[in-house]
Order: sequence, then structure tokens, then C-alpha cells
Amino acid sequence: MEETKILEQNLTEEMMKVLETALEPSRLLMTYYACAIMEIETKFKVLNRQFSLEQEHNPIETIKSRLKSVESIINKLKKKNLPFTAEAVEKNLHDVAGIRVICPFIQDIYLLADCLLEQDDVTLIARKDYIKNPKENGYRSLHLIVEIPIFLKDEKRMMKVEVQLRTIAMDFWASLEHRMRYKKELNPKLTEYLFDELKECADNSAALDVRMEKVKDVIERNEIV
Ligand code: GTP
Ligand code: MG
Repeated sequence: MEETKILEQNLTEEMMKVLETALEPSRLLMTYYACAIMEIETKFKVLNRQFSLEQEHNPIETIKSRLKSVESIINKLKKKNLPFTAEAVEKNLHDVAGIRVICPFIQDIYLLADCLLEQDDVTLIARKDYIKNPKENGYRSLHLIVEIPIFLKDEKRMMKVEVQLRTIAMDFWASLEHRMRYKKELNPKLTEYLFDELKECADNSAALDVRMEKVKDVIERNEIV
């Protein structure tokens, strides 16, 4: 805080203007991404309402969304050897706007993904199914990169959003794995042990997902399936 004040005092008004002009495009761009998140979030909330009304089942447990921080954006541009421009961000980074939809059951994930992609203002850019093809470490989720329009005062703008759909069990594993991602240097034997252990936890929770879905089917059909 103090440093910022001193910096501001030392900057001439002219320099401040130059800085603000330079930062304006990125500030605008981040606002557009925030609007895109709102649009997609609303689409999911509408679907959730409809399913809960018609089928007495909420396919969504929770929705979490996030805007990538400017620091992470800069780091990613650096890593990819891209220029620090708004154009480079829009063209190359597909996860500035991110939304995570957490569902009770695996079938809810595919139902919601299909419903979203059927909407005529949603374009699918990329799809990665880490449920059918889990990552080597056991990570599971359905990832979609979609493009949607946001409607501004006098302009329609197409924005990309990364959508991650997962079950509660998949989210439980991914959240803990992310927290524990080894920050320390570990010896190779320990690294191998932790990898295997986390992979087994992922497989166990995936088996639980399948089992819980079967319980749901038994209740719905009123017979053992
Ligand atoms: P990034 O450059 O990391 O954005 O990834 P990518 O283009 O290879 O995309 P991918 O779809 O594989 O992963 C993107 C996002 O999925 C990550 O930012 C995480 O939120 C999540 N994710 C992917 N793999 C893992 C994993 O092994 N563990 C956890 N906890 N999350 C993961
Ligand atoms: Mg990412």
C-alpha cells in the first residue's frame, strides 16, 4: 500500500495518463470475461431450475467460477512465448474465464453438457473427456471450451469460457490433489509412492461414483438393477 502511494506521488499526471491508457484494454477485456462467466452461469442455473421442476432432481450441486489473475495471465503468456497484448490473450488463452460445475452424479455431467451445447448461441471450441479417459494421475472431469456472445451497449462480442464439469467425488479428489501438489523436492521413491497413492484414491472415488449412481437407479426404478 505504502509503496503504491510513493509510486503515485512520483508519477507525473502525464505518466499516470499514459499508464492508464495502456492498461485500459486489459481492464476492458477482463470485464468482458466476467460478463461471459455471468452468461454461462445463468445458462446452467436455468437448466438446474428446469430439471428440478420437471424431474425433482437438481443436476447441479454447486457452481464455482473464477477469472484468471493478471499475474497468471502474464506467466502463461511468458511460458508460451506470446506477446503481452489483449489480442494474444483472446486468441491463445482459453481459460481466462473459468466455470466449474459440480454435479451429484456422472449422468448429470453429460446431461448438462449436452443441453448447453445444444443452445444455438453456444459454440464448442474444444472438448476433453477426462472421465472416459482419465489423466495418468487419475484426474477426472469433463472439460469444454465454449464460445458465447456477450451483448454490450453497441456491440456483440464473442468470448471463450472454460467449463469444467465434475462430480462431488471428482471435485473432492482434484481439490485435495491440487492443494497437496508437491511443493517440496522429494526423493524419487517418495514421489512414486505419492503418485501411486493419489492414483489409487482417484480410482477408489471413481468406483464410489459408479456405486452411488447405481443406488440412485435402484431408488428411481424401485427395483434392484
Ligand atoms: P492449462 O495450461 O493448465 O490450463 O492446461 P491444459 O491446456 O493442458 O488443459 P487441461 O484441460 O488439461 O487442464 C486445465 C485445468 O484442469 C487446470 O487448470 C486444472 O484446473 C484442471 N486440471 C487438469 N489436470 C489436473 C490435475 O491433474 N489435477 C487437478 N487438481 N486439476 C487438474
Ligand atoms: Mg488452466
